[in-house]
Amino acid sequence: MESSWLNTGRGPYTARERELVGAGHAARALAHFRGHAAYRPTPLRPLPALAAAAGVGTVEIKDESGRMGLGSFKALGGMYAVARLVSAEAERLYGPHPGDGRLREVAAAAPFVCASAGNHGLAMTAAVRELGGDPVVYLSEDVPEPFARRLRSFGARVRRSAGDYEQSMAEAAQAARDHGWRLVADSSWEGYTAVPLDIMRGYTTLFAEIDTAPTHVFVQAGVGGLAGAAAGYVRDRWGEDPRIVVVEPEAAPCLMVSAMEGRPARVGGGRTRLGRLDCREPSLLAWRLLARLADAFVTITDEQAEAAAATLAGQGVRLSPCGAAGAAGLLSTDPATRAALALDADSRVLLVGTERAY
Ligand SMILES: Cc1ncc(COP(=O)(O)O)c(C=O)c1O
Repeated sequence: MESSWLNTGRGPYTARERELVGAGHAARALAHFRGHAAYRPTPLRPLPALAAAAGVGTVEIKDESGRMGLGSFKALGGMYAVARLVSAEAERLYGPHPGDGRLREVAAAAPFVCASAGNHGLAMTAAVRELGGDPVVYLSEDVPEPFARRLRSFGARVRRSAGDYEQSMAEAAQAARDHGWRLVADSSWEGYTAVPLDIMRGYTTLFAEIDTAPTHVFVQAGVGGLAGAAAGYVRDRWGEDPRIVVVEPEAAPCLMVSAMEGRPARVGGGRTRLGRLDCREPSLLAWRLLARLADAFVTITDEQAEAAAATLAGQGVRLSPCGAAGAAGLLSTDPATRAALALDADSRVLLVGTERAY
């Protein structure tokens, strides 16, 4: 498998993509979060030493480690989607502008369920508990126990699945069907798109907090929700010029392979310690956006992500290897790909530090 691929399917941002993710959705998500007591914009940190090491003009990292006190950007997606789900249901039942009491009544009517590699479960749990509801989170067998403990401490009922992330997702979806629970999945597939679309729109909040246009965005992907959100937002606000590079683990490059094959593809592959990026199938919506809007896909090894986390820690930004994966992609891009992406001393690179160090 190549470690980088220039997207031959790249096309312009059109009304079809704007309908999914654009600056208008980001403005609505930002307005929602501004009404939330725990909301603060996260810092955009300059990394001059990393820029010198990467041979580019500037590097800035959107440091999501403190987001809503939950430790990752994922807070933006799960919290926004649960709020939208509950208010839509309450409006159907009671008409426009239902009050807090009605929202809590609707939230308590049935449990909410998701599968998670950790962070999405925490976001859903925080949002559901805020409204007094009952969150159930399925974790695959390799999600570390501290995540399970943290979820329980936030009020989630945790169920361990015996398989991988896709298996835990299947079990969460089955539980929703069996019991009439509300599924809050951060991936999407044929027939299930409304909630994951809100999750992606929630993520765009972090880009809407940024003032200046980058020339390059390196963004890590699991199922591609964050990268798809980045692509839709960046194209709408800053046009076709910024180069968008999707960074995936070498062991789970589902978006790269899907873009190459021109259809959502399931990948096999080995194991990776980059647990939150270890997804074998792309989100359908993310794939649709990235297949047209991403300029390149690169893969990284666990060691490269771990080294990037150590480098960033040395520059005062403490992230997990998953959180530093975009930096690893920047540092490891081969010369031919750099040239094709016009990545040089004039480039202003944006990274997303997606998760705090553990
Ligand atoms: C820390 C972190 N970074 C990146 C991602 C990738 O996000 P997505 O699955 O939307 O591609 C995740 C997903 O769980 C994550 O937890």
